[in-house]
Amino acid sequence: MEDHWKRGLSNAWADDLFERIRARTVGVAVIGLGYVGLPMAVEFAKAGAKTVGVDVDQEKIERINRGESYILDVKAEELAHLNAQGLLRATADYAALKEADAIFICVPTPYTKMKAPDLSYVEDASRGLAAHLRPGQLVVLQSTTYPGTTEEVVLPLLESSGLKVGRDFFLAFSPERIDPGNKEYGARNTPKVVGGIDEASTRLASALFELFIEPGKIHQVSTPKVAEMTKLLENIFRSVNIALVNELAKLSDRMGIDIWEVLDAAATKPFGFMPFYPGPGVGGHCIPVDPYYLSWKAREYDFYTKFIELAAEVNQSMPFYTANKVIEALNRHGKPLLGSRILVLGATFKKDIDDARNSPTVEILKILLAHGAQASYHDPYVPRITFNEPVMGPVGERVLESIPLSEGFLEGMDCTLIAVAHSCFDIPWIVRHSRLIVDAQNATKGIREGRERIVRL
Ligand SMILES: NC(=O)c1ccc[n+]([C@@H]2O[C@H](COP(=O)([O-])OP(=O)(O)OC[C@H]3O[C@@H](n4cnc5c(N)ncnc54)[C@H](O)[C@@H]3O)[C@@H](O)[C@H]2O)c1
Repeated sequence: MEDHWKRGLSNAWADDLFERIRARTVGVAVIGLGYVGLPMAVEFAKAGAKTVGVDVDQEKIERINRGESYILDVKAEELAHLNAQGLLRATADYAALKEADAIFICVPTPYTKMKAPDLSYVEDASRGLAAHLRPGQLVVLQSTTYPGTTEEVVLPLLESSGLKVGRDFFLAFSPERIDPGNKEYGARNTPKVVGGIDEASTRLASALFELFIEPGKIHQVSTPKVAEMTKLLENIFRSVNIALVNELAKLSDRMGIDIWEVLDAAATKPFGFMPFYPGPGVGGHCIPVDPYYLSWKAREYDFYTKFIELAAEVNQSMPFYTANKVIEALNRHGKPLLGSRILVLGATFKKDIDDARNSPTVEILKILLAHGAQASYHDPYVPRITFNEPVMGPVGERVLESIPLSEGFLEGMDCTLIAVAHSCFDIPWIVRHSRLIVDAQNATKGIREGRERIVRL
């Protein structure tokens, strides 16, 4: 830790915490051990900080304490090694937070059925933490949320403990940028934005992150609100650009233009252009959710975020558009969707990960099932899907299991839809054994044989 984070500050608690960070005797706690919290807890533990994870999910706690990983990017050997060294443990007991000097909140921020922010997890975690907050601690919120959450929601709950921010404890927001499956950018080399409620909070959080993030990669901003808005801008940027290209894909289809060829051509421009690709829809915990947080908050200011809502509308139409491509493809072969056997390949929200939250495949399967198709799916990363909220008409609550791929199974399908092109899929083999293919990812690019059986998005 560089001493420049410390320079000019005059708070005895902050001095003490800086000293512990420098000496690597700092204790860290992470509330919420999911895709964000667990990899970060591992990084802190690897940096030598005694780390405790607090979660409400007993199974996750037991698995961590047994040295078993449930997240693709976290290695079981690493967990077991850190457990054995006494550097990492998990518990459901919030009282463990008392031992920590710095506490990171990484709980979910989903939306409600009506697409309003659901901050109940952040509130529960903040309340649970307030009951054990002690002077000298630093709290960092990492859950993606609307600007104002740290100051308007988390701070009052923490101060209900009787402690005062800036005097007794420190508070910052730092958005998470983890990109599961990304081989180039991970926790150590991805720049981190930090915005504290005061100077000491910003600098303390920065110094802590430098325990595992490469020097020079911390970007400080003036307030938590700026940091919160930064994360939303990043995700809205993706959502809007994906929507733009999805709209152009639909138009190109109608005009008889190959959008994939257009994109390859446009991507040769070395400046002022960044390629985004069409697909069967957007999924995950971020792109389809976060823009709504801002739209909701904007209404408090009599402001309507038309761009954001339009992008969401276009992206949400893509599973329907993709299902319609299947209907059109079958139609050309004289078949109705009703009763047809459809296999959907890939159930995650992007390739080579194991996360199926808000996955377009789930929406597509619901649509196909609601229209009477015999729909099934295959994904080596997603053993089963439970449906409980129908998109169109009641399909009832049901569970689909991933079907193992075989030549015979593919040959028995009326149509195979490539929704996600995991690297482990043998696309030429799939094409060879499928009667009809709808390719929503341009995964069949370069395949010459059987082209007449392939319909692209
Ligand atoms: N997954 C990503 O790629 C990603 C990237 C950037 C930001 N984010 C944001 O980070 C936050 C966390 O996302 P995630 O993907 O890690 O979610 P997740 O669902 O994988 O993990 C959240 C964890 O919090 C636990 N939890 C829920 N309530 C709790 C409580 N009251 N106390 C303790 N633990 C509790 C859950 O059991 C779960 O283990 C969200 O705001 C998300 O938008 C996620």
